[in-house]
Amino acid sequence: MDYEKFIEDQIACIKQTVGGEKAINALSGGVDSSLVTVLGHRALGERLRTVFVDSAMMRKDEPEGVVKIFADMGIPVEIVDAREQFLSALAGLTDPEEKRNAVTDTFYSKVFAKLVKESGAKFLLHGTILTDIEETVAGIKRQHNILSQVGIDTEAAYGYGVIEPLKTLRKDGVRRVAKLAGLPDEIVNRIPFPGPALATRIVGEVTPERLEIVGAATVIVEEELADTGAFQYLAVLLNDRATGIRGNKRQFGRIIVVRCIESTDARTATVTQLSWKKLNRICERIVQIEGVNRCLYDLTPKPPATIEYI
Ligand code: XMP
Repeated sequence: MDYEKFIEDQIACIKQTVGGEKAINALSGGVDSSLVTVLGHRALGERLRTVFVDSAMMRKDEPEGVVKIFADMGIPVEIVDAREQFLSALAGLTDPEEKRNAVTDTFYSKVFAKLVKESGAKFLLHGTILTDIEETVAGIKRQHNILSQVGIDTEAAYGYGVIEPLKTLRKDGVRRVAKLAGLPDEIVNRIPFPGPALATRIVGEVTPERLEIVGAATVIVEEELADTGAFQYLAVLLNDRATGIRGNKRQFGRIIVVRCIESTDARTATVTQLSWKKLNRICERIVQIEGVNRCLYDLTPKPPATIEYI
């Protein structure tokens, strides 16, 4: 594939589709939405409004970090605080699909519809990639960013059209194009992080307290595994508890699962053979998180498992 031409074609296509109108896009800081932001910015300049939606489910310090990276590239990004909306939409939900739907619905029809209306944007630029579409169409999972492919007419449902410049690429292609488009390595090589964010890494209800725990575990896993060069590594909070001992007392504590996988496109994955030393160190740090007394390493490849837990 001629990636230079891909960039030119997508910029031309965005220009043509949006015409004289305005567009908006949501940036998460992942390589997909970052590339869309750069392509959109090149096509539309100030007619593109880029927002970072703080859903309360992002990694620690993520909003400010992402805004800074883009400010350094001359692209302004606005932070929109939607923490309350997401948390209240997720309260009480435990079913994975219901949680995903709550995130999608809050994101598109509540937070985004309002922003689009306010900004007068007629189009939303979105970082959907080919793998998202294939898995959703195959019924494996409803990726939160797939709308038209499952028969949702965004124009009628939410009042705006969606442009998906990356829908013919897989993750490896996105990274190549992102590099070529001049994105910093920190973004190009960023491990994937799902749209529904830490909600996919909490089995059971998403609450501020449980987000705090999985967020703390995520920081540890990302620090410890950054040097592996693995495709993706993450921490998951299970809904079960296990008995342990704290200060000579029995504690019915939380369980964190660590996952570290090798893959090129996320369609299939194998598990990284980490050293005992590394695994022990991660375990030692994870069980220092308050309330957590077990740390497990997941050995399951994809398939039969998926990468995330919901
Ligand atoms: P699974 O768990 O389906 O994940 O094996 C495959 C890859 O996709 C990411 N992922 C998502 N990305 N929206 C996204 O943008 C989603 O709803 C979503 N669910 C999973 C996951 O992190 C992995 O890299």
